[in-house]
Amino acid sequence: MFDHLPADVVLFEVGPRDGLQNETRLVATKDKVALIDALSGCGLRAIEITSFVNPQWVPQLADAGEVARQVGRRPGIIYSALVPNPQGLVAAQAAAMPEIAVFLSASESHNRKNVNRSIADTLQVLAEVVPAAGSAGMRVRGYVSTVYGCPYEGAVNPAKAVKLAVALRAAGCYQVSLGDTIGVANPRQVRDVLALVLAETPREAVAVHFHDTRGTALANILVALEMGITTIDTALGGLGGCPFAPGASGNVATEDVVNMLEGMGVKTGVQLDKLIACSGLAASLVGHEMPSRYYRAAIGSRLYAGRGSRP
Ligand code: HMG
Ligand code: MG
Repeated sequence: MFDHLPADVVLFEVGPRDGLQNETRLVATKDKVALIDALSGCGLRAIEITSFVNPQWVPQLADAGEVARQVGRRPGIIYSALVPNPQGLVAAQAAAMPEIAVFLSASESHNRKNVNRSIADTLQVLAEVVPAAGSAGMRVRGYVSTVYGCPYEGAVNPAKAVKLAVALRAAGCYQVSLGDTIGVANPRQVRDVLALVLAETPREAVAVHFHDTRGTALANILVALEMGITTIDTALGGLGGCPFAPGASGNVATEDVVNMLEGMGVKTGVQLDKLIACSGLAASLVGHEMPSRYYRAAIGSRLYAGRGSRP
């Protein structure tokens, strides 16, 4: 056990997109920009900053173009944004995004709820969008959602995720992130699904994206790392969820992953104290506390320290 852990992993911070898309209190553009700029100072190497989707479907991210134009772009950090179709690509291009992420689901019902298309039709759309983005000089990442279970259909055959991951790679995605959209995966399932995907796809072209709805995300991540995966999607504070997947809650918290991995000798490059400050800022912007365990422990010990020593 732990003999195959990588020395170094990339955390793909998706909080400004996956996190904020699920928040009802509208966050001002300038506050989103301030949050992303603060995240850029934490040592993260990749940040998904927004989403060029229909604002009627996701009102929180209606300011995608403004956010993309206003964030400070630090050399060495990948800035990415979600794009569902050619219209989204045009908007992302106009905002000079260097990288985008396309997405579809392994289950038919969630795909229809999410993008109003069948999986087959979505694949056709993406077969147009991904090469067009590549020709425009953008790198393209892909997501397969509901890999481990669908909120509408229940169990999902892993062969579907394998097929879609291969299709996204064939279209030109440099990496495919496998989404546990509603947080139902367990470590054995992760091992079985990854074994199938890795038989068809190089390790560096696969990432994992766990929502922590049932508390299994850290265990699932350890399994993925042992199998050679080195890119993990995380969200500051444990924000996140898909508005079109009932019951979905936050992504695994960036600080929880950093704390566990750095403690085990796996480098993330992320500075926890700065990240905790970002989560504090996010909490004030969205108007509720963060679900992250590490964040709560850090805040709790600070409050305790402020009360002085016990009599
Ligand atoms: P649609 O309604 O079928 O689109 O939406 P349409 O082509 O029929 O056009 C209808 C209207 O939408 C038109 O406007 C278009 O201009 C507009 P109207 O003429 O009625 O005024 N429109 C757009 N506007 C802005 N940007 C666009 C765009 N495209 C069309 N790109 C669409 C199709 C996909 C756009 C829509 O269903 C949509 O926006 N869905 C949102 C899906 C979403 O954001 N889901 C959450 C992210 S996925 C996720 O969270 C999972 C993930 O984290 C991984 C995991 O956890 O598993 C990635
Ligand atoms: Mg997600």
